[in-house]
Amino acid sequence: MLKKARIAVLVSGGGTNLQALIDAQASGIIHSGEISLVLSSKADAYALERAKKAGIDGLVVSKKDLGSQEAFESQLLAYLKQYDIDLIVLAGFMSILSESFIKAYENRILNVHPSLIPSFCGQGFYGLRVHEAALEYGVKVTGATVHFVNEIPDGGKIILQKAVAIEENDTPEILQKRVMEQAEWLLLPKATEMVSASLIKE
Ligand code: GAR
Repeated sequence: MLKKARIAVLVSGGGTNLQALIDAQASGIIHSGEISLVLSSKADAYALERAKKAGIDGLVVSKKDLGSQEAFESQLLAYLKQYDIDLIVLAGFMSILSESFIKAYENRILNVHPSLIPSFCGQGFYGLRVHEAALEYGVKVTGATVHFVNEIPDGGKIILQKAVAIEENDTPEILQKRVMEQAEWLLLPKATEMVSASLIKE
């Protein structure tokens, strides 16, 4: 039996969801797992600063530098192995992972998506684009989803969802912030604890 699930958080940008995970670990909301590694697909991601401030190892794995998806994924896998990772959390990670990568961590990869799946999700729907699409469509309610990652983009089993109201005069930026504050930053730590707890019971 594992004492705590060893968690890797994969990021590409600002890392506010990573920060929510770090804060949840500090406050004890996450207690069945520990964030052991942050992997960033971008060298200049602010998320790496957040990792450093929290004393968590942060490493860059750049597809551009490595030259191919295969080389990118084998470097990711090598680091995950080196750090003995049990659970992967995608927190604003903007690269699609192949089926063989996902199979290596079946039911051990979580993703947070800023809409109520199955709306505004799948290929091409990431970051602000998701909120632009929700506003363009004119839906009155959106939200966030945490789900397991499978071979279908945003298609894996849903773990948690929370609805967030759209208000008049919302811009994509305003809506993104509300969805983060009211949904993503709460759901991702909660789901991470739930899955970590189930892994250490295995
Ligand atoms: C978050 O809103 C996350 O849900 C979204 O990117 C943002 C990253 O922000 N992810 C996707 O759109 C994945 N399809 P962060 O770097 O501040 O956590």
